[in-house]
Amino acid sequence: MTDFVDKVRGIVGDRGLITDDAAKHPYLTDWRENYLGSALAVVRPATTTEVAAVVKLCAAQKVAIVPQGGNTGMAGGGTPHENGREIVLSLTRMKRILEVDAIGYSMTVEAGVVLKTIQEAASDNDRLFPLSLAAEGSCTIGGNLSTNAGGVQVLHYGNARQLVLGLEVVTPEGEIWNGLRALKKDNTGYDLRDLYLGAEGTLGIITKAVLKLWPKPKDHATSWSAVPSPDAAVELLSGAYAASQDNVTSCELMARQGIDLVLKHIPGAVDPLAERHDWYVLMEWSSTRARHEGTNAGGLREKMEAYLGEAMEKGLVLDAVLAQTEAQSQSLWALRENHSEAQKREGPSIKHDISVAVSKIPAFMTDGLAAMKKALPDCRPVPFGHVGDGNLHFNCQAPAGWDKARFAPHIEKISGAIYDLVVAYGGSISAEHGIGRIKVDELAHYRSKVELDTMRSLKRALDPQNIMNPGKVIQV
Ligand code: FAD
Ligand code: MLT
Ligand code: ZN
Repeated sequence: MTDFVDKVRGIVGDRGLITDDAAKHPYLTDWRENYLGSALAVVRPATTTEVAAVVKLCAAQKVAIVPQGGNTGMAGGGTPHENGREIVLSLTRMKRILEVDAIGYSMTVEAGVVLKTIQEAASDNDRLFPLSLAAEGSCTIGGNLSTNAGGVQVLHYGNARQLVLGLEVVTPEGEIWNGLRALKKDNTGYDLRDLYLGAEGTLGIITKAVLKLWPKPKDHATSWSAVPSPDAAVELLSGAYAASQDNVTSCELMARQGIDLVLKHIPGAVDPLAERHDWYVLMEWSSTRARHEGTNAGGLREKMEAYLGEAMEKGLVLDAVLAQTEAQSQSLWALRENHSEAQKREGPSIKHDISVAVSKIPAFMTDGLAAMKKALPDCRPVPFGHVGDGNLHFNCQAPAGWDKARFAPHIEKISGAIYDLVVAYGGSISAEHGIGRIKVDELAHYRSKVELDTMRSLKRALDPQNIMNPGKVIQV
């Protein structure tokens, strides 16, 4: 394989190649530290042409490729297997913003651009790129599109799939498909773009994308409310659509257990309310209409205040704070966005990234918590998430003091109980994180034969040698 690595070096040069064990390590393990793989090399091409040449070489030598962006994925899809016969193909050197078309509300970028950089470029042009998630400082747009990422503004703007117009993709044969079309309408045969979105790198490598932009909001309101139950949370959201004149852009539900972990592990985190409550809702409204200042000052904040006041009278809200400044809004958001980090610092946990219809969230919460406790009475449920999309992170923290080895034998029973319940509720066992490596068996178990056969046929047709992220999403 020295010969293979030398040929790769011939394509990407020394700057594009990592073979040293210590330098490779961060690319061989996932954010959650569930997997530690091995790779012939970490290859970091600088252009689409280099990606295509590397893929052609891999196809000729039957070397499997694991595409990787910011390596923040939750499902192990970007981590190589342990056999050492794969390469990691990192897109992080392809980080140019190629065009911002403010008139046409689109932006063309390379796959390795960090999400936050894209948000900032949009904002600098008085536009919004609405994809937003806690990993936005390190995840890349290629990873976002390949996982069809969700995040905290899906209820208003949609998943990553809805935020993209065109793609450039390198196929498993090393061909370049230029689908970088900035078209809102294009009914010319099968939609190849949609195939690659959410494919988790198993069908090809996304090298560039044309993204959709929106007008930049000029007014925001953020509130943090203690609510008596998930029922009240769902009702609060339901009324907020009309009260805000359809300006609800985020609605996140959290249980006290998650807040306690954030307060324990994240320096500077502060509980904004004087008393403890069981459930919290973080709501963001935003509008392109600027607030009025001076006499008759007003905008979303006043509307939200009035709405929360009414909700309090109805008993839907027990206590609430409304951010008066951008800094206050950010510190409320930090309580929500630090849930994953706090859970990680607390110790082992299982993530159940599930969705059910929004109206079924309250009943699911009751049944799901009972099922989790029945499977392991000492476990610590940490449910939170994007309630406006029906997407809960129905996570389960190991009993206090347990390590991974002690917790591992219980995972199948706990997750099985939760996923069976999700399916009984007509929900999804992976709402936004994808399947990766961690849910390959679950996908095979919970999806119908016709769905699995169609997925396998697609994979075999597009990647006949099975070199593109093999063993992820679906076994062929
Ligand atoms: P990676 O982790 O590098 O890769 C993810 C998958 O995409 C892998 O299968 C990989 O092979 C493939 N891939 C990567 N780049 C390419 C490419 N260019 N072409 C083809 N395949 C590629 N996710 C959400 O959806 N919503 C959330 O709210 C959310 N919150 C998070 C919070 C935290 C703190 C963290 C750590 C993660 C969170 N995630 C969330 C998960 C993760 O950030 C997203 O899935 C993100 O989209 C992954 O991007 P990435 O660049 O890190 O991809
Ligand atoms: C989030 O929304 O913060 C993550 O997707 C949730 C998780 O880490 O489980
Ligand atoms: Zn999430």
